[in-house]
Amino acid sequence: MSHQYAGKVVVAPMVRVCTLPFRLLTIDYGTDLVYTEETIDYKMLRSIKRYNDVLGTVDFIDKSDGTVFFRTCEKERHKVIFQMGTNDAQRALKVGKMVEPHVAGLDINMGCPKQFSLKGGMGSALLTQPEKIKSILSGLVQGLSIPVTCKIRILDSLPETLELCQMIEQCGVAAIGVHGRTRKERPRHRNHNDVIREIAKVLTIPVIANGGSRDISRYEDIARFQQDTGAASVMIARAAMWNCSVLRPEGCLPIDTVIERYLRYCIEYDNPFTYSKYAVQNMLRELQVTPRGKAFLETQTLQEISILWGLEDYFKIQLAKQNEGRKLLNFEMKQ
Ligand code: FNR
Repeated sequence: MSHQYAGKVVVAPMVRVCTLPFRLLTIDYGTDLVYTEETIDYKMLRSIKRYNDVLGTVDFIDKSDGTVFFRTCEKERHKVIFQMGTNDAQRALKVGKMVEPHVAGLDINMGCPKQFSLKGGMGSALLTQPEKIKSILSGLVQGLSIPVTCKIRILDSLPETLELCQMIEQCGVAAIGVHGRTRKERPRHRNHNDVIREIAKVLTIPVIANGGSRDISRYEDIARFQQDTGAASVMIARAAMWNCSVLRPEGCLPIDTVIERYLRYCIEYDNPFTYSKYAVQNMLRELQVTPRGKAFLETQTLQEISILWGLEDYFKIQLAKQNEGRKLLNFEMKQ
């Protein structure tokens, strides 16, 4: 199954950004695969699965308050990789089984350096627990029919890093995503492309190089990052978040065009306001000081944002459609 991960441009997992609307946007602009935001295993285990006939999606929602933990649809099924935060093989497999029918692959986050992940023994805390890595990854590889991968950061020394990667390869994963920074390094630090290159030389499974966004502002830069790292594939986070059309071989589009298209998906798939605002803010960047940027910062609903990008009518039409769909469903359920 590893061929699925070779020669690919992949959009990286990003909390709050990589929900369904953003993922569909990346697919429109040409990504081969797109990761979900990281979802913690516990959340998924307390969710129930619902077919949302109004939106045409499959939703995993919180049993108690209806919060959507994972929303997906058929259009992305063969491209979406579900990323999970976990530190337990049994919980991981249970969640893997839940999402297996709906996604193209499952990824375990072993790179997150945030306190929340570390306290739960997840993310980059796993990098120093080889037995745990083995039990989680081998369990998933044996128990699931979809490919399993993980995303790591590099360790302090090259030999340690290579040893870790080889151990991971032996677990039977289809590929490995490598962010070329250590746990302690921040985005402003140089990405160690040379370390990724060494990993790619030693492993037989595809290596997906990550960490290059600082030097990616055009489509051509993606290929250069791949050459620099000698990796089979490239995974892009921030450059895609800033202007997702960087994925287009035909060239970047103006950011307003990208934002408008993103907002249409947010409206169509009822994306939470705070997530939509966060993503748009990251697309606007320095444009937040323009009159529209300032007005945007004041918004408190998705409708208010939509109006700023000329989508007032689209918002109303979609909302009416969704409300009509809900009414019809209620009517059918009462029959
Ligand atoms: C991230 N990153 C991240 N990584 C991960 O494994 N799971 C996640 O959910 C997230 N969430 C996330 C959110 C946001 C807003 C950012 C900017 C980053 C890390 C990301 O996937 C990637 O490893 C780094 O950003 C480095 O790659 P780039 O940005 O240089 O392409």
